[in-house]
Amino acid sequence: MSTTDALLYSSDHTFKELIAHAQRYGFIYPSSEIYDGLQSIYDYGPYGVALKRNLQNFWWQSMTQLHQNIVGIDSAIMMHPTTWKASGHIDGFSDPMVDNKDSKKRYRVDLLIEEHAMQLVSQGKSNQSKGLMEAMERCLAAGDLPGLDELLQQFGIVCPLSKTADWTPVRQFNLMFSTQVGAQNDATTIYLRPETAQGIFVNFLNVQKTARMKIPFGIAQVGKAFRNEIVARQFTFRMREFEQMEMQFFIQPGTEKCWFDYWQENRKNWYSSLGIEQEKINIYPHKQLAHYATAAVDIEYAFPFGYKEVEGIHSRTDFDLTSHQHYAKKKLQYFDPDLKKSYIPYVIETSVGLDRLVLMLLSNALTKENNPVNEERTTSRTYLKLPPPLAPIKSAIFPLVNKDGLAEKALTLFDQLKYDFPLIYEATPSIGKRYARQDLIGTPYSITIDYQTLEDETVTIRERDSMRQYRIHMSEITHHLASTTSIKSLLLQLKK
Ligand code: GAP
Repeated sequence: MSTTDALLYSSDHTFKELIAHAQRYGFIYPSSEIYDGLQSIYDYGPYGVALKRNLQNFWWQSMTQLHQNIVGIDSAIMMHPTTWKASGHIDGFSDPMVDNKDSKKRYRVDLLIEEHAMQLVSQGKSNQSKGLMEAMERCLAAGDLPGLDELLQQFGIVCPLSKTADWTPVRQFNLMFSTQVGAQNDATTIYLRPETAQGIFVNFLNVQKTARMKIPFGIAQVGKAFRNEIVARQFTFRMREFEQMEMQFFIQPGTEKCWFDYWQENRKNWYSSLGIEQEKINIYPHKQLAHYATAAVDIEYAFPFGYKEVEGIHSRTDFDLTSHQHYAKKKLQYFDPDLKKSYIPYVIETSVGLDRLVLMLLSNALTKENNPVNEERTTSRTYLKLPPPLAPIKSAIFPLVNKDGLAEKALTLFDQLKYDFPLIYEATPSIGKRYARQDLIGTPYSITIDYQTLEDETVTIRERDSMRQYRIHMSEITHHLASTTSIKSLLLQLKK
């Protein structure tokens, strides 16, 4: 992300409001909040977990159901420790960090410098900012830690807390969490996986053979990953325990450019199908590549704090399989029946953070609107404009009043629909408040049973976004909800 990009974002709500909304309306809570929380760890509430599951299902189905040649697995979080030697994570998965001697706080140097560069832009010193960013990128690419020390001093970058530049030398810190398995005096150190991808690589031949896959083919996985992120900030954007949705696509060497382009296009369309406007998505080609990649792009979303990565697409060559073959001393080759020869496949990876996607969707959905009632008066309304197939609750069902058999009729409807849709039944007196509560959690439809229902079996449907109200026959409700709130309706968008 360039510094100017970060300043160019526009947003009609602040990030603080978004965090408050997510906490207040049952989406995301700080973990172990009664003990004042645990930094960078979060729990999902009733609506958050439903939103997250819906997103996950959409991703999973768009990968494994729409592609005949992509299958799924669910591998363990704990893996043989040599996995991480082979993957390069033991030696290379670290960030340059620096401690301020006065505040005793530790920072990721690149983020500290990036923040200073953004301040320079806001002070009208764009050239200095550009120079600083370029110098930092050169140092990072060369692993030049003393160079980073020098930049901190040269630009007078201070600790945001102590306001001093009394820094320790920049050092590399490994981001993996370790733990012990086995009896204490005979314990082995293992790691909580920092990415789900390695579970796919080590199962490459198992899956290829048992599911009879032919190259090109993909393996998809959704699961937890853990990183000891030092700079904990921006809510669920950077967590220590998070969920990844990764897909490794195994291909014939030499076809990587074509498949890299294919997956970029495919994934861009996926974001469009979620209703994310094109200008809110940025494709950022990496200048500094991870140890395993020969080409990489980030898909960035315009968060209230700037364009930031939600997904990475990486061309990983045969790095991982070759390395596992070496460390495990087992052949990880594929016999290509068309070419009549064996080779280690190349890999294109798509890797997206599920928690970041949830944050992106909430950020995109939180809408504040002023609606004129008459010439003198306007009312304001806050609602979550979530894509209906991802909304935690598909419809609310209300009896107009809690008497004359309307509640019974509404409950009968609830019992009929509950097998197909997550619903909320509510019989509190104020219709306005009922609508407002559903708007805040993003429920796309509210259905009201009134006196006319008793006569002709029609109900009033109120739409969340337009607030339009219309009557339909009760027999049409299932079709009406299914056609607009099913994951299938999103999958069909991908066809266009
Ligand atoms: N297997 C490749 C890989 O792990 P990555 O760019 O390090 O690549 C992929 O991570 C995605 O995982 C990111 O685009 C992001 O969405 C998510 N992610 C990474 N670190 C995260 C963190 N600390 N908190 C939340 N999501 C994170």
